[in-house]
Amino acid sequence: MSQVKQTVLVTGGAGYIGSHAVLALQRAGYNPIVLDNLVYGHREIVEKILQVELIAGDTNDRALLDQLFATHQIAAVMHFAAYAYVGESVTAPDKYYRNNFTGTLTLLEAMQAASVKKFVFSSTCATYGVPHTIPIPEDHDQNPINPYGASKLMVERVLSDFDVAYDFKSVWFRYFNAAGADPGGLLGEDHNPETHLIPLVLLTALGRRESISIYGTDYPTPDGTCIRDYIHVSDLASAHVLGLQYLLEGGKSDVFNLGNGKGFSVTEVIETAKAITGKEIKAVKCDRRAGDPPALVGSSDKARKILGWCPEYSNLSDILSHAWQWHQQRHQ
Ligand SMILES: NC(=O)c1ccc[n+]([C@@H]2O[C@H](COP(=O)([O-])OP(=O)(O)OC[C@H]3O[C@@H](n4cnc5c(N)ncnc54)[C@H](O)[C@@H]3O)[C@@H](O)[C@H]2O)c1
Repeated sequence: MSQVKQTVLVTGGAGYIGSHAVLALQRAGYNPIVLDNLVYGHREIVEKILQVELIAGDTNDRALLDQLFATHQIAAVMHFAAYAYVGESVTAPDKYYRNNFTGTLTLLEAMQAASVKKFVFSSTCATYGVPHTIPIPEDHDQNPINPYGASKLMVERVLSDFDVAYDFKSVWFRYFNAAGADPGGLLGEDHNPETHLIPLVLLTALGRRESISIYGTDYPTPDGTCIRDYIHVSDLASAHVLGLQYLLEGGKSDVFNLGNGKGFSVTEVIETAKAITGKEIKAVKCDRRAGDPPALVGSSDKARKILGWCPEYSNLSDILSHAWQWHQQRHQ
């Protein structure tokens, strides 16, 4: 007799990382459904490619959430829905606290009222601020330097408090830079506006941008450009499935970094992209941007040890090749 699939609500499932998580959940035998306000998400990805139920709505809409929990038997929630433009969070902090913090609190209250008490949350390395240790461990100080990071840290605090008060179990993942695309070519990164280095480099290779800006070439790094930790989006998605299973099997609330453990400089990304695409990619050297630490690399040993996470695509060439395959298809 076939088992009934457990339903997992994926907020932000029409976005970049959330859509890859929906695919991973389907492949792992779950029944994902998506809640997305479609401000940045793509309806056709959910409905046509992933073919799962889409509830077009907002996490701030408590009546909608109550109805959703009343009409679906939801085992757990994966929460990706947020705004994630760091620069905008500095100029419009209210927008970020309203969406990322209040929206999440509203969702948690609705879950609590419906007795759904398993939660996987997208936090970020931006909660650490400027690190004093590389690779950054989970117990590093958290001093976010922008409202985006602060809004995520506030949610982390609420999750700890909900555990104590309501026995509410959550896993929160602090990701480093999500990158790459589904190796099968079904999904990829399509932000508008795009601010992430790898898609910007590939859009330059495609001739859709004139050049790529390198912010700072005098950092104390081997080639003078900033070093970041790029983690393949499919590896992020598999970590979420493991985090979910861990909670469903009775795991305690916990936090895990999700990164590559290796850093790559801006110059290395551009040079590898040139080799993979076979295209000229014009790079323009610019001044440093305020608030950019020279290097951000995380230690993900804890996720490997406790969740058994084993990233499949940790080299930069795989990340760039998968992203390139998707970008070529998307922009042909
Ligand atoms: N991309 C990265 O490198 C990165 C790094 C660290 C953390 N994160 C976090 O991961 C999550 C997903 O990031 P992404 O890159 O896939 O972003 P994304 O913009 O592609 O996806 C977010 C989705 O959430 C939806 N959304 C936003 N606010 C909503 C709300 N109030 N109600 C319903 N839907 C809402 C958007 O329409 C979008 O589809 C975010 O929480 C982000 O902060 C991303």
